[in-house]
Amino acid sequence: MFTDTHCHVYEEYYENIDEIINNAKNNKINRLINNGCDNKSNIEVIKTINKYPNIYGAIGIHPEATETYQNIDLINLENNLSNKKVIAIGEIGLDYHYTKENKEKQKELFDYQLKLATKYNLPVIIHSREATEDTINILSKYNLKGVIHSFSGSLETANIYIKMGYLLGINGVITFKNSKLKEVIKQISLEHIILETDSPYLTPEPYRGKKNEPARIINIANFISNLKNIELDELARITNANIKRIFDI
Ligand code: NI
Repeated sequence: MFTDTHCHVYEEYYENIDEIINNAKNNKINRLINNGCDNKSNIEVIKTINKYPNIYGAIGIHPEATETYQNIDLINLENNLSNKKVIAIGEIGLDYHYTKENKEKQKELFDYQLKLATKYNLPVIIHSREATEDTINILSKYNLKGVIHSFSGSLETANIYIKMGYLLGINGVITFKNSKLKEVIKQISLEHIILETDSPYLTPEPYRGKKNEPARIINIANFISNLKNIELDELARITNANIKRIFDI
């Protein structure tokens, strides 16, 4: 069985979450880590982890919410860290793709949440887009465990994160025709990789264009199993062991 280590399964995206979980089970995916991005979605995450035994949660304020979050959101975030099924702070990080104007504010918010992770001894799920250097510099100041979500960088960047003890979250991007990620992943040991869908985004081939869901982990797993010439069961065993090194599940 596989785990979807990064999805956004909220009621606003999926009418029938029971069906999403059943589809996942029928495709050998028995656990989900549901990720929040702001106060509203963090509440959605808490709802799902309280209701479904096989959903775990990560809560955090995403860099795209830098201009809109309120201080009370950070208090709510901290209060919910005592929930036993909240297993990480995420997704958090830096995103300079849409705007570089608020770099300092983004770094401040990121830093604050890394301090929370340190305080509560929790791993982190990192979003980094067009911000590799700053992400590495800030993470180097902390001694945290975690995942670089939606990793799609160079082999050199991959090796820096690996040396720092981070896992690389690999999703449907690897199946895209123009993606250079497969060449990078070919050269990386599976001990450093976990699988994620980022549902409802980043749907893998051949379903690109449709709404993604956790069941599609199987398509990513099949792709990597071919790429690395490894049995599906062995891939599940290795990635689950990797998850266990970082997360308390
Ligand atoms: Ni995400």
